[in-house]
Amino acid sequence: MTTNHSLAIEKLTLGYGDRTVIDDLDMSVPAGRITSIVGANACGKSTLLRSMSRLLKPHKGHVLLDGKDVHQLPPKQLARMLGLLPQSPIAPEGITVSDLVGRGRHPHQGLFSRWSKDDDKAVADALDLTQTAQLADRAIDELSGGQRQRVWIAMALAQHTDLLLLDEPTTFLDVSHQVEVLDLLTDLNRTRGTTIVMVLHDLNLAARYSDHLIALADGRIHASGTPEEVLTEDCVRAVFGLDNRIIADPVSGKPLMLPLGRHHGGHSLASTRSR
Ligand SMILES: Nc1ncnc2c1ncn2[C@@H]1O[C@H](COP(=O)(O)OP(=O)(O)OP(=O)(O)O)[C@@H](O)[C@H]1O
Ligand SMILES: [Mg+2]
Repeated sequence: MTTNHSLAIEKLTLGYGDRTVIDDLDMSVPAGRITSIVGANACGKSTLLRSMSRLLKPHKGHVLLDGKDVHQLPPKQLARMLGLLPQSPIAPEGITVSDLVGRGRHPHQGLFSRWSKDDDKAVADALDLTQTAQLADRAIDELSGGQRQRVWIAMALAQHTDLLLLDEPTTFLDVSHQVEVLDLLTDLNRTRGTTIVMVLHDLNLAARYSDHLIALADGRIHASGTPEEVLTEDCVRAVFGLDNRIIADPVSGKPLMLPLGRHHGGHSLASTRSR
């Protein structure tokens, strides 16, 4: 089992140049649980995740891991505790699947230590779990979008961190691979105690698979809590400008959002949205 690291955000302001994207945000991530961040395009979800993994320096405020500012921690030390799958990761040209997944082991190697059997096992397990073992010798550039996405997830898994941040891990995946990846993240959470924070656009999968939901709007938290507390008709209207109905998911009992459109009994609310 993992150590339950605490991850918290205090008065965080993020942006690019003069432009503020996240404004004075306070947030804490429940340790050992699955948290999903939802929100409209461009509301700041990826910006927030990047800053939580020290890829983006805050204008103000702190991201605290076990009380220490992540922006002050040595990169390798942080990478042994926290892994990030970015929204659009870029692979070195020509790299093979097994070499890319192997890069996930980099934080575990010392200055002079060689590749070990543990590294071999971590890579083989990650390939197995993501059903990408049969792609091991292929070049990343030659894979389909969904295959590539599963390889990136494998790389994040090989890193063996107690905290895993994933920015839209189900992008490009067909519906069965989406469920497979979310089941896999749930397995990791249950068996290793991994704390998971992910950005998801599918609100219904987010409600089903998360212990905790955070709805972001315009760089602020509009609502946070259990899926039942957050996924309400009012919240979806306010955050996405979408007329909708919420019913109980007949499989899980969690809230299930049915989008309405102008052709299916809904009203266009686009003008009520701020962005
Ligand atoms: N590198 C950058 N330089 C300047 N502005 C940026 C940069 N990255 C993002 N932005 C801007 O910051 C805002 C938030 O972007 P961000 O990528 O965090 O949104 P998001 O919520 O992840 O959206 P999506 O759902 O489309 O992925 C957007 O207006 C975007 O144009
Ligand atoms: Mg994004």
